[in-house]
Amino acid sequence: MARKPLIAGNWKMNNTIGEAVVLAQEISNEMEPDWLDAVDVAVFPPFTDLKPVYTVFEFDKLGVAVGAQNVFWEPSGAYTGEISIPMLRGIGCAYCIVGHSERRQYFGETNEDVNRKVAALVADGTQRIDPIVCVGESLAVRDEGSYLEFVEAQVKAAFAGIDAEAAAHAVVAYEPIWAIGTGRTATPEQAQEVCGAIRETLSALFGDVAAQMRVLYGGSMNEGNAELLLSQPDIDGGLVGGASLKAASFIQIVKAAL
Ligand code: PGA
Repeated sequence: MARKPLIAGNWKMNNTIGEAVVLAQEISNEMEPDWLDAVDVAVFPPFTDLKPVYTVFEFDKLGVAVGAQNVFWEPSGAYTGEISIPMLRGIGCAYCIVGHSERRQYFGETNEDVNRKVAALVADGTQRIDPIVCVGESLAVRDEGSYLEFVEAQVKAAFAGIDAEAAAHAVVAYEPIWAIGTGRTATPEQAQEVCGAIRETLSALFGDVAAQMRVLYGGSMNEGNAELLLSQPDIDGGLVGGASLKAASFIQIVKAAL
């Protein structure tokens, strides 16, 4: 089944409101609207920039989606500092990154937390917010050789208790930690090996539905390496960090997915 590629720009903790609006406007100016027939494009600004960035694309009538970098699973309540799914809905978010390795590493997010967030996001389909579930091994795990088992366990844990119908629109992003922000990209073969294994795991969990679920690669993707990575059979797009902060680089990566 043909899967529409997704290019997702993870801005991380970068850009104040003014900077975010400028970057969104630059992306909007350089993007040809008909590219979006062939590729889905989304950006993931910090929470404080979500609404202004959404408004830039809305004003330009450009179908670039906006997503959040994190969410809490409870709908409301005494959870100081957290942001809920209904809040993201109210802003118009179409996606939410879950379980990024920086959240696992610096903020102690566990596989159980990731599972609760994914389950909450896919539970209510009225106004979909599709999770982008991040998985990936450290350099130590890669060197030791058990990376396929490690990633498979992360995928199974993230989707525990979730059925195929609910999981159908979820996205998985393979992001080897040793490739994030390091300039050391996985080779297309290394990335395909793990993305193929992720698809097999999804097949085991969800049967035929796995063929329609998108699997992205992330980790130092840039305009120079995107085309080869995106040409792999099980890589359906990219989760782009550093290179998504410059409109020209991000646009080149979008073009590589066409
Ligand atoms: P990078 O980040 O492209 O800067 O390596 C990717 C990510 O963390 O999503």
